[in-house]
Amino acid sequence: MRLLITGGAGFIGSNFIFHLRAVRPDWTLLCVDKLTYAGNLATLDSVRDDPHFRFFRADITDETAMRGIFETERPDAVVNFAAESHVDRSIEDPGIFLRTNVLGVQTLLDVCRSCGVSRFHQVSTDEVYGDLPLDRPDLRFTEESPLRPSSPYAASKAAADLLCGAYRRTYGLHVTLSRCSNNYGPFQFPEKLIPLMLANALADQPLPVYGTGENVRDWLYVDDHCAAIRLILEKGEAGAVYNIGGHGELSNLALVRRLLALVGKSESLITHVGDRKGHDLRYAIDPVLLEKTLGWRPAVSLDEGLAKTVAWYLEHRLWWETIRSGAYLSYYERMYGNRPAPDRHFDGGL
Ligand code: NAD
Ligand code: TYD
Repeated sequence: MRLLITGGAGFIGSNFIFHLRAVRPDWTLLCVDKLTYAGNLATLDSVRDDPHFRFFRADITDETAMRGIFETERPDAVVNFAAESHVDRSIEDPGIFLRTNVLGVQTLLDVCRSCGVSRFHQVSTDEVYGDLPLDRPDLRFTEESPLRPSSPYAASKAAADLLCGAYRRTYGLHVTLSRCSNNYGPFQFPEKLIPLMLANALADQPLPVYGTGENVRDWLYVDDHCAAIRLILEKGEAGAVYNIGGHGELSNLALVRRLLALVGKSESLITHVGDRKGHDLRYAIDPVLLEKTLGWRPAVSLDEGLAKTVAWYLEHRLWWETIRSGAYLSYYERMYGNRPAPDRHFDGGL
């Protein structure tokens, strides 16, 4: 298998690469990433000397660059993680979300078509379903729930989902989609709730909880998400949508309190700040299709996953402190900018 993975220098994409290195060591992994502010090449240090791994710095909206990579590397399948992924940024500046998350997917699908790559998996999100009320704990999103995205981010992901369905129907591509709940774990960019709160708590800085903090998210340990995507890639039915979630519902306030307890800091650090515009109240996933048809089960409980995650952030301070200081932004240029020719695995020429 020659698998092209986009967005592999980000949080879930990098964890997917590590997951495949462990369970599918014979696969060749072709990582394409633009290295936006959210991509950090240092995250991939542990695989850069692996002969079955190659990195290409490129933008998924750049059709010429994508075609060049597809024609030279001849992937068998594509898994698309590349996206602008932060809701708050989408509220500030929706345009880049539409360009990357919608037009980027259209570009990838078209290049797949013209290069004869028929297998495409789109990594989507439960946020396409909008939200659920707080007072109806019996309700969960199923694959049949209507698409009612609330934020520009969620709307861009929903548009991409519809595009994938259209390419399946019109051009017969073997497209699958997965819609996962909130992920957490190693290498998550410290603008997202869990790493941001951990970093602030460790620095004794205020923990900014939006609004009342009653909003509920359904948390899944990132490696369980990666295992689900691999299963779908290997056994998923063409055209199928799979919800992924681990029944890990928690209010933001309860989660922040647990993080504070895990790092031994005081709840007095919690600071309520103005609410996010259009803030979704509750997400909850029913992963029954994935469980019944592909036998997927989450392996990591919320208690275990949070403990592992806190331990990881404590042990890898340099990784997130470098991001918080902004120093990671020059990593690529420092490591690869002055080399006369692209090296064997990291192709900086694109
Ligand atoms: P992330 O922001 O950590 O990583 C995104 C990666 O994509 C970065 O490495 C970035 O450099 C790259 N990228 C952005 N624009 C690009 C472009 N135009 N061309 C090439 N690369 C580009 O995001 P994440 O949290 O790892 O999310 C990955 C995917 O999973 C996204 O599609 C997201 O919508 C989806 N998802 C995320 C979650 C979550 O909780 N984080 C949950 C469900 C689904
Ligand atoms: P986030 O990690 O941005 O994920 P998403 O918006 O995709 O669910 O936020 C998770 C929840 O935490 C969401 O309800 C917003 C809230 N939140 C805060 O209260 N404070 C923060 O500083 C951040 C980043 C998020």
